[in-house]
Amino acid sequence: MNWGAIDRYAKSLIKEAGHKIRVSFYKTIDVESKAEANDLVTNIDRDIEQFFIRKIREKFPDHRIFGEEGFGDEIKSLEGVIWMLDPIDGTMNFIHQKRNFAISLGIYLEGVGILGYIYDVMNDDFYHAVKGEGAYFNDERLPMLENTPIEEAVIGVNASWVAPNRRIEHMPIVEMVHRCRGTRSYGSAAIELAYVSSGRIDAYMSLRLSPWDIAGGMVIAQEVGAIATNMKGENPHLLGQDTFIVAKSGLHEEILKNYIVLK
Ligand code: IPD
Ligand code: CA
Ligand code: CA
Ligand code: CA
Repeated sequence: MNWGAIDRYAKSLIKEAGHKIRVSFYKTIDVESKAEANDLVTNIDRDIEQFFIRKIREKFPDHRIFGEEGFGDEIKSLEGVIWMLDPIDGTMNFIHQKRNFAISLGIYLEGVGILGYIYDVMNDDFYHAVKGEGAYFNDERLPMLENTPIEEAVIGVNASWVAPNRRIEHMPIVEMVHRCRGTRSYGSAAIELAYVSSGRIDAYMSLRLSPWDIAGGMVIAQEVGAIATNMKGENPHLLGQDTFIVAKSGLHEEILKNYIVLK
């Protein structure tokens, strides 16, 4: 497998897609709801996914594509090479703010993440990693993360599940929110993974993410020594939705042990 060629091609597609998204603000954006009223999708999410799929199939016809908007392959196993793509992660931000969204892509071989990319389109911030060769922010090597105790940690957490919910006991999370230095919520799982990897926040967690939300970011996070698991401490599920936490290693252990109580 020529990973160098795949890497160069993936980067060029992401940059081109980013340009298409920026230009889309001069066109009409059609907003629709998916299964739930606040689960939004636009014609741009779909166009960008289709752009990637066309280009990937042209060059690598035997690779499979797992994309959020469903134009790729039906993925039921992790065999071979799979491109796990979220054409716009943070669609709500894309619609409401025209910023704070990202293209997220992970390229996996037999279920193992080899290449990971997160492109914060409006800031032109590019994060990427090659398994075993380190992670980069705009081509600058990211240092290995050093641990931070909970009292000094800034944690990415969505306010809606600090309220009572059916998946985890919320009181321990309330305690964690009080104990840590601060919380942030950026509205794009990919950007939050990029922020953990580049040391801007110390942990990020979510009650429900899909493979394309985390696939690219996990490759990047692992290269700087962050730990990414589901809330049971297992490898996140790559064929369906799962809970998710990524953090500096000691902090990951501390949060799972003391603050996450699954129902
Ligand atoms: C969403 C974002 C959001 C997270 C949601 C995801 P989308 O992705 O990453 O931050 O909380 O769970 O579904 O739908 O904007 O690609
Ligand atoms: Ca979506
Ligand atoms: Ca997403
Ligand atoms: Ca998306």
